[in-house]
Amino acid sequence: MVELLLINLDHVGIAVEDLDASLADFKRMYGVDPSHREVVESQGVEEAMLAVGGSFVQLLQPMDDDGPVARFIQKRGPGLHHLAFAVADVAAALTHLEAEGAELIDSKPRIGGWGKTIAFVHPRAFAGTLIELVESP
Ligand code: CO
Repeated sequence: MVELLLINLDHVGIAVEDLDASLADFKRMYGVDPSHREVVESQGVEEAMLAVGGSFVQLLQPMDDDGPVARFIQKRGPGLHHLAFAVADVAAALTHLEAEGAELIDSKPRIGGWGKTIAFVHPRAFAGTLIELVESP
């Protein structure tokens, strides 16, 4: 019984070492400027959102050496980091996923970039892929 409504693919998160250089490369190759740029202290990153149709590419640069994105880059190098699905209600989605036995990183919703309510589901829950749930304010 699926009760979790995925509204759309909100964004694809890519870990980068140098946000300015990556934004310049993306602009040069794909012609897209960032719609939004923000330091998200709680995640230890500076991020930029690039609109592509109805979704975004999110570039994440670690601000220090020991946050989750910094550790990701140290282990695997820059690259695809997570998929983010828009949902109507992150708290309800977490309840559903927990009932389905999914391992959660965030047991409760928290505030991420752009003031949106988010939560992460552990890559062990599905195909080694980190999933973020996003609810608009
Ligand atoms: Co994200």
